[in-house]
Amino acid sequence: TRAVIFDTDPGQDDAVAILAALASPELEVLGISTVAGNIPLDLTTKNALKLVELAGRTDVPVHAGCDRPLGRALVTAEHVHGETGLDGPDLPEPATKAGAAHGADFIIETVRSREAGTVTLLTLGPLTNVALAFAKAPDIVSRLQGLVMMGGGCFEGGNITPAAEFNVYVDPEAAAMVFRSGVPITVLSLDVTHKMRSTKERIAAFRDLGNAAGKAVAAMLTFSERFDVEKYDWEGAPLHDPSVTAYVLDPDMFEGRDVNVEIETGSPLTRGMTVVDYWGVTGRAKNAFWVRSGDSDRFFALLTERIGRLP
Ligand code: BDR
Ligand code: CA
Repeated sequence: TRAVIFDTDPGQDDAVAILAALASPELEVLGISTVAGNIPLDLTTKNALKLVELAGRTDVPVHAGCDRPLGRALVTAEHVHGETGLDGPDLPEPATKAGAAHGADFIIETVRSREAGTVTLLTLGPLTNVALAFAKAPDIVSRLQGLVMMGGGCFEGGNITPAAEFNVYVDPEAAAMVFRSGVPITVLSLDVTHKMRSTKERIAAFRDLGNAAGKAVAAMLTFSERFDVEKYDWEGAPLHDPSVTAYVLDPDMFEGRDVNVEIETGSPLTRGMTVVDYWGVTGRAKNAFWVRSGDSDRFFALLTERIGRLP
C-alpha cells in the first residue's frame, strides 16, 4: 500500500477524489488536512468530516489548516460549489470532530513519523497548508515520496481568469514556494481535467450503483456540473480533483512529461498562472511532471468501481 495525506477544500470534486481513495486498498489514507478555498475553512472541514462518515472511515483523522492564503484575501467559489461547498446530496451534519492539531502541523508530524520516502501528499486545493508546512519544517520536503496535485493549466488556459486555474490563483505565493521546494511534483491540470467530463451517462452509472456513496456522488456531480456545462457548452462538466486519486492508482492511463513550471505572483493580469516550459525553451531546471492527457473512459470506470465498494 501507498501512504497518502490529502490536503483539500471539499468541494464536490474533492469529495469524489477522497471517497474513491478511501475505497481503495492500495492506499493508506493517513489523514486529511483542510484549507480555505472553494468555501471558507469551517465549511471545508465540516465537509471533510461528512465524507469520512459517509465512507464509514472515521478512523481517518481530519485536521483544519489555514483559513486564508499566505498573503492575500481569500477568494471562494460558491458560484460553482453552492453555499455549503457540497451542495447536491443531503448529507447529515457530522457527528465527529476535527483533530486539535493545525493541518500544517498534522502534515509535518505525520511525515516525520513515517519512514522517509514513503508518504505522498495529494493536494486538491490551494497550497497554503503545504507551503506553511514546508516553511516550518524544511526537513519534510526530502522525506516525502512526492506530491501529486490538481492545479494549473497550460494548453487549456485558466478557469477563474483567462490565465489562472482556481487552486493556484487563490494562493500563488504558496504555489510558488511548493514548486521551488524541490519536492517531486506531478501536476494534474486543466489540460487533463477538461477531458474528464461527467456526462449524464457517467453520473447515472454512479447513481445506479445503488449504495449511499454512489447516490451522493451522483447528486454532487449533478449539482456541480450545472455551472460548468453552461460555461463551456460541453456535454458534461470537467471533473478535476479525482484525477489525482486516479493517477496514484493507475498512472498508466495518463501521459505527460517532465517540465519546468514557474508561478506568476506579480502581474495582476496573470496572477497565479502556471508558466509551463512544455517545449523546453528556457533551459530552466525541470521541477514537475506535467500530465497532458488521460483516458476518460478508464478514469470514470475506475471511479465508479471504487465508489461502488463504499457503504
Ligand atoms: C479546482 O478548483 C476547485 O473549485 C475544484 O475543487 C478543483 O480543485 C479546479 O480548478
Ligand atoms: Ca478542490
